[in-house]
Amino acid sequence: MTPIFFDSNHDDNTRLKNLYSGAIYVFSPTPSGIALQDFAAEFCKDYFQTQSPTTVQHELPVSEFIETLKRLKPEFIHHPSCKKLIADILSDLNCDQKTTYFDVPRIRTACAGDYLSSGLAYAFKPHRDTWYSTPMSQINWWMPIFPIGPDNGMAFHFDYWDRPIKNSSYQFNYQEWNQTGRKQAHNQGNVDKRVQSEALEEIKTEPATTLICEPGGLIVFSAAHLHSTIPNTSNETRISIDFRTVNESDVLGGAMNLDSESTGTTMMDYMRLCDLEHFPAGEIESHANSIPQPQFSSAKILNSDQ
Ligand SMILES: [Fe+2]
Repeated sequence: MTPIFFDSNHDDNTRLKNLYSGAIYVFSPTPSGIALQDFAAEFCKDYFQTQSPTTVQHELPVSEFIETLKRLKPEFIHHPSCKKLIADILSDLNCDQKTTYFDVPRIRTACAGDYLSSGLAYAFKPHRDTWYSTPMSQINWWMPIFPIGPDNGMAFHFDYWDRPIKNSSYQFNYQEWNQTGRKQAHNQGNVDKRVQSEALEEIKTEPATTLICEPGGLIVFSAAHLHSTIPNTSNETRISIDFRTVNESDVLGGAMNLDSESTGTTMMDYMRLCDLEHFPAGEIESHANSIPQPQFSSAKILNSDQ
């Protein structure tokens, strides 16, 4: 069973404990959520030079769409206003100022139909973010920028919360990915050749749960949850933002590690809520060297198969 809390007023510790156990939290748009959503929506309108960024794919050649994303995405990620807007959201939801760390927000685009589903608009297959070198305590915060529906949202596969999956995370190292993968994303076009951390067995994508909230609302979940991009059968590009948090008290704890064997660490990406300081180098290194062993090792199984 996966509890889903709507507009809960749980304190930070209770919420984290529940999230590490697989619960989901959904929040209606708050003024600080709407401030970020509004900022992102205007950003998209400016870059695509339209009042309707979710339908502009029907008017633009793919190459032009990609060129616009290449400029829009990094500009948004690094815009100084984003840090302030996210800090406001986390503060409003009572995240601890001294122990909560967050990373920069990323705009994701999932285009309608088969217009573009690679590189900068990669359609994420079912995955756990913990397959990508995150602490097991990472929490994901996901926000639609424009209205979404069941045919272009994000899906959760709750059956896999406590079911291990054979996967290739043992080949993934975040530091190596940063040096090569991100640069390549800009040159992918319609075919994505980057090595992804992915399932190596067939995933039953049904039953799936899709949570729909209004633009500026938030869906909050453990990075260990299996989730995916729903194949977009609507007529509109889904545009969303996500960012992540880690609580310093739980860096080596969090959700149970079922099957994640990625190496390296994302710890250098997070900034402290109260002053935007990064984790000290010692703590970053300590996390990279102390990732809990998974209960289920794909590497061991694959090696013994050979
Ligand atoms: Fe993800």
